[in-house]
Amino acid sequence: MTEEARGTGRRSRAWFGARGRGGMLYRSWMRNQGFGHEVFDGRPVIGIAVSASELAPCNTHLTGVAEAVQRGVWQSGGFPLRFPTMATGETLMRPTAMLYRNLMAMEVEELIRANPLDGVVLLSGCDKTTPAMLMGAASVDLPALMVTGGPMLNGKYRGRDVGSGTHVWKFEEDLKTGRMTEEESHVAEGCMARSSGHCMTMGTASTMACAAEALGMQLPGSAAWPAVDSRRMETAQAAGRRIVRMVEEGLRPSAILTREAFENAIRVNAAIGGSTNAIIHLTALAGRVGVDLDPEDFDALARAVPTLVNLMPSGRYLMEDFCYAGGLPAVMAELLRGGLLHGERITVTGRGVAENVAGAERVDPDVITGLDAPFQPAGNGTAVLRGNLCPDGAVIKQSAASPHLLTHRGPARVFDSPEEYHRVADDPELDVDENTVLVIRNAGPKGYPGMPEVSNVPLPAKLLKAGVTDMVRVCDGRMSGTGYGTVVLHVAPEAAVGGPLALVRNGDPIVLDVPNRTLRLEVDDAELRRRRATWRAPAEEHTGGYTWLYTRHVEQADKGADFDFLRGCRGYDVPRDSH
Ligand code: FES
Ligand code: MG
Repeated sequence: MTEEARGTGRRSRAWFGARGRGGMLYRSWMRNQGFGHEVFDGRPVIGIAVSASELAPCNTHLTGVAEAVQRGVWQSGGFPLRFPTMATGETLMRPTAMLYRNLMAMEVEELIRANPLDGVVLLSGCDKTTPAMLMGAASVDLPALMVTGGPMLNGKYRGRDVGSGTHVWKFEEDLKTGRMTEEESHVAEGCMARSSGHCMTMGTASTMACAAEALGMQLPGSAAWPAVDSRRMETAQAAGRRIVRMVEEGLRPSAILTREAFENAIRVNAAIGGSTNAIIHLTALAGRVGVDLDPEDFDALARAVPTLVNLMPSGRYLMEDFCYAGGLPAVMAELLRGGLLHGERITVTGRGVAENVAGAERVDPDVITGLDAPFQPAGNGTAVLRGNLCPDGAVIKQSAASPHLLTHRGPARVFDSPEEYHRVADDPELDVDENTVLVIRNAGPKGYPGMPEVSNVPLPAKLLKAGVTDMVRVCDGRMSGTGYGTVVLHVAPEAAVGGPLALVRNGDPIVLDVPNRTLRLEVDDAELRRRRATWRAPAEEHTGGYTWLYTRHVEQADKGADFDFLRGCRGYDVPRDSH
């Protein structure tokens, strides 16, 4: 490293390069970890943000990944410092991990800015941890590189591949219909999660790992290595080496996260059959870097892109297969071949997308299909709907829906909460048939609060028993990326803020027309105005604490459900001295 690169331009110098009492204070306490004085010579100080927690099982192994990153940073002449962040574990957190995504993003942002860091490596895994870290880092705009923790090995149960998440829904149906016993389900649970890592379906974690790679924020190929594959550690080490160079080059998220990068990520999301949650997270991230993304951008950009990847929940394979089949570089190379990506977009490698994936090969064309014979044709991705029931949009994942329900007219059966539905779902007398449209409301960002993944409620037991496999459901909440069904999600504005969903009554006809991108309530405007006049907002439940802050500042789904006051980038200026 040249003397100049060690120069005073680096923000860590404000701490470790300081003279007198101040500098002593900053350095001395660090020495208790056994660092010699030489680490304060002006080399880039690299923070490694580690979202490991035993409460977030998808992220527990990140401590080991952090060590590999650390090795890489030392190798490149940097000074690595690990620090923990909160971990929004999808499976345990109530009422939903999504409630805490913004809190985690805020924490990551503040930790980076408040400390003597010149660059940061972000270690994430479970669904919300990836967007939270990207959002936080983008709002600081110091050089940042993401390393996701990788998927679990394929689940294996009685000779079959089972996918985390996706098979939870299937096993639940098996339990309800008596095809599986309680004891068998306990064995199956263990078979589904047999190694470290995040969900190995193309759920939200895999989707966001791929999104991070497609955006250019993680090294090519990183998304797919299984968590326990030694090459994940190799990649982590490479990331450690690379971040030091990024600091020297001054390569910041703002240079990477451009409109074109988001367009790439949206198209890649369509090609991998990614989670609907990507829409929310990418929109929120875009808001941090001043890129305007509308719900319609997702629909319009994805329309030309066929689904190339045959993974659960839309297909049959899992992330381990995806990795061996060539991983995301193979998908991106194929999309580039079809002129569907911006190949010049710069990434964390310092090179463009096209250069990154040159030579990537589709090793197993059954798992990663080609544009000529895609797994699913273009136009089958996530559709964005508008209409008098969702003036600010709603989404439906067509590939996870039943084709015969994509145009449907049926009477609404309204539930004011998911719990209200669950209480009666098994009632043999429930007044529904397969044409009914189940409306589940008050599950939006403000209403639940936190916009949980409750929208794909299981079908009423009586219909399951009668062999019905799908029904139209309409909800202002989200759906797990591993879920499936004809479910209209993210209805905006949500019911709790007085969106039209709040005005629906039992028996009102609802018309879903996905080919024409509409969702309508067949009730005339005059009647809707009458209903609105008597509508009362739900009583304020939270009088303090984080949830109070959340419900006051969370934006609607079409804006990414970020906090209004967290939009934009607040930079990396060195804060005032502490002593
Ligand atoms: Fe963590 Fe699925 S629960 S990734
Ligand atoms: Mg999830």
